[in-house]
Amino acid sequence: KYPGLALTPPMGWNSWNKFACNVSEDLIKQMADAMVASGMKEAGYTYINIDDCWHGDRDSLGFIHPDAKRFPSGMKALADYIHAKGLKLGVYSDAGSQTCGGRPGSRGYEFQDALTYASWGVDYLKYDWCNTEGLKAEGAYKTITAALKRAGRPVVLSICEWGNDQPWAWGQNVGHLWRTTGDIYNCFDCIEDHGTWKSFGVMQILDKQEGLRKYAGPGHWNDPDMLEIGNGALTPGEDRAHFTMWAMLAAPLIAGNDLRSMSAATREVLTNKAVIAISQDTMGVQGFRGVKKDSLEIWFRPLSKGEWAVCFLNRSKLPATVDYHWKQRPVKDPDFGYELNAAATGYTLYNVWTKKLQGSTAQTLHAVIPPRDVLVFRLQP
Ligand code: DGJ
Repeated sequence: KYPGLALTPPMGWNSWNKFACNVSEDLIKQMADAMVASGMKEAGYTYINIDDCWHGDRDSLGFIHPDAKRFPSGMKALADYIHAKGLKLGVYSDAGSQTCGGRPGSRGYEFQDALTYASWGVDYLKYDWCNTEGLKAEGAYKTITAALKRAGRPVVLSICEWGNDQPWAWGQNVGHLWRTTGDIYNCFDCIEDHGTWKSFGVMQILDKQEGLRKYAGPGHWNDPDMLEIGNGALTPGEDRAHFTMWAMLAAPLIAGNDLRSMSAATREVLTNKAVIAISQDTMGVQGFRGVKKDSLEIWFRPLSKGEWAVCFLNRSKLPATVDYHWKQRPVKDPDFGYELNAAATGYTLYNVWTKKLQGSTAQTLHAVIPPRDVLVFRLQP
């Protein structure tokens, strides 16, 4: 794969969660405009990613073209437009014969498609796993990796295999991120049964990350799927919890809402600089669940320069009372060996959502966390 890319979890926007197959060059250009106007770009979001259904047909020589009605100016012009704004363009394909949405897949055309994407100026490829009968995931993804490399343009490769073939075990040198689960569903705590497949609420996705953190690091991330913030189903507290947990997980931050019309509240969640600083910490160590007591969980993420992020997550529909004695509870990272010893190091607590200092680890923390919400500190020595 291309080295030196996605050294922190990728940040951007993707069309699927909100628009599904309803994509067009007008929509994508408007989203790029809104990315800049809303302050999302300034906050660190870079990629504008078109998901499924942008494709038209292959021509007689096998070259793929975008749907001419939806993308009349072509992909090169769209890439130029996005690059002129200081943003990057992502497209989507599939390792199989067809995409999940029934458009042409890349099977048998991997090297040709990679050349086409490079000629357009594509910077990011999400590569899906529908209609892959007879293919083995690791080999199929290695083929597109080799093709992208041969094409000569740096491209972030997003492996979208849903976790069935354990992409974390082989993905490190193949792609820059890999989906760990099936699709996210726009709810906080539910499973949606579609008959032949299921999709998962924010908390269900979170629980499926157990045991995977040791595989993540700079340039190769676990991907618990894209954000549902601002898509109408989550409360403000649930939005905060969703965004914070994705930052604690060192997950890609790929917004999935309509950036043109988002509320100020949604914008404030998606552009919270202190939470983004946790997500983008250069040490690139994924956080872990250190405590689980009923519906209250405490998550820890070691940060560079000896700092820590600590998140109290209340999953319950009732408020949760917290009395936390920092000094009596040294915390040890189970995979990488970092130690949070609040007794030896006095830490100031910076509350990343109220944006205020809230005492130190010398004191017992007393707090009430509203239902389905988080209390999140950055611990500063
Ligand atoms: C399945 C993927 O998991 C989704 O994120 C999305 O890309 C759809 N396919 C598109 O058909």
